[in-house]
Amino acid sequence: MKVVLVAGARPNFMKIAPLADALDRADGFTTFLVHTGQHYDEELSRVFFSELGIPRPDLDLGVGSGSHARQTAEIMIRFEPVIEQERPDLVLVVGDVNSTLACAVTAVKLGVPVAHVEAGLRSFDECMPEEINRRLTDSISRWLFASEPSGMENLAREGAPPERCHFVGNVMIDTLEKHRRRAAEMKAPDRFGVVPGQYCLMTLHRPSNVDHPEILRGILKAVAGIAGQVPVLFPIHPRTRSALKGCNLLDYAGGIRGLTLLKPLGYLDFLGLMADAMAVLTDSGGIQEETTVLGVPCLTLRENTERPITIDQGTNCLTGSDPHQIACGFDRILRGGAEGRGSPELWDGMAASRIVEILSSREV
Ligand code: UD1
Repeated sequence: MKVVLVAGARPNFMKIAPLADALDRADGFTTFLVHTGQHYDEELSRVFFSELGIPRPDLDLGVGSGSHARQTAEIMIRFEPVIEQERPDLVLVVGDVNSTLACAVTAVKLGVPVAHVEAGLRSFDECMPEEINRRLTDSISRWLFASEPSGMENLAREGAPPERCHFVGNVMIDTLEKHRRRAAEMKAPDRFGVVPGQYCLMTLHRPSNVDHPEILRGILKAVAGIAGQVPVLFPIHPRTRSALKGCNLLDYAGGIRGLTLLKPLGYLDFLGLMADAMAVLTDSGGIQEETTVLGVPCLTLRENTERPITIDQGTNCLTGSDPHQIACGFDRILRGGAEGRGSPELWDGMAASRIVEILSSREV
C-alpha cells in the first residue's frame, strides 16, 4: 500500500513522526511524505524534523502564509499533481489545520481514500477555523482514527459508518513518551534560569485571543499578576508577536516583571519545560493533552475544548480569556486543586502501531 503522509503546520509534526516510523517498519507499505509548507520557519518547522527524526519530506509544496481561502486553495492546487503522479492507495492526514482539510479534499476528489488521525474531536464552536477543518475532513474520510471516546461519540452522532471509526489512542502521546526521558536529560529549566516546580509556561496564538487588542491586553494583565508570584516563560508564536507589535503591546509585555519573552522553542526544550512547570497557560489544543499525561496543571484560555477528556480526567481547566477567571484558575492551582487522574485510555505510546495494524487489515 502506497501512503502519502501530509504534514503542514507545527502541531502536525509530532503526530506524523510516529506514523511515518510505524509505516516504515511495517511490511507492505511505502510512504511518500509531503510538507505543505504552511509553516516554514526553522522554529516552527525544521527543528521538529531534526529533533523528532522525521524523514526529510519527499516534497515541499512551499505554500507559505495567506488568508484561509488563499492558503487552502494554494495547497489544493499544488497537491493535486502530486496525487496524479504518485497515485497512492491512501492519503493520511492528521489534526485540524488548513493543510489537513486541503489535502483531504484534493485526494478524495481524485478517488483516493483518506485516513484522518485525530478524528471526531469537536469544540462545537464554528468561529474556530479548526472546527470547520475537523468536520469537513471527517465527513469525507474513509478511515477515522479517534484519540478519545468523545471523538467516537461525535462521529456516531454525526452518522459516520461505525466500520470506519476506530478508537486508537493519541499519536502525539506516542511522541511524548518516546522523547520525555531525553527531554528531561537536557535540563531545560536550568538553561532557562528557572527552578523545577516554581515557574509557569505560557503559549498563546488563537486568533480569538491575539487578534483583539483588548482581549490580549486583559490576558497580559492577568499574566502580570501571576508573574508577580512565580516566573512565567512565554515563547511567542509569530502570529502573536506581530499582533503584540501591531497594537503596541510588545513593550508592555517585555516590561512585565517576572515574564520572560522567548522565541518559539523546539520540541525537546518545550517538553522539558512543560514537564517541570508548576502550571501551563495555553490556548493550544495539543498542550492540553500533553499536560494531562505529564500531570501538570493546565489553564486553557478558551471558552471550550474539543478535548474534553483533558478536563474530565486530566489536569485541564478552562478559564476563557477573562483576567479574573485566569487569576482564579491560578489561585486554585496554588491551593493544590488541579490534580488529574493519570493518562487517558490508550494514551500509551502505541497509537501509531494500532493505526498501522488496522490499515494492514484493509477492512473497509
Ligand atoms: C496554525 C493552525 C492552528 C495551529 C497553529 C499552530 C490553521 C487554520 N491554523 O495556526 O490550528 O494551532 O498553526 O502553530 O491551520 N508564520 C510565520 N512563520 C511560519 C508560519 C507562519 O511567521 O513558519 C506567521 C505568518 O505571519 C502567518 C501567521 O504566522 O500569517 C499565522 O500562520 P498560519 O499558518 O496562518 O496559522 P497559525 O496561527 O500558525
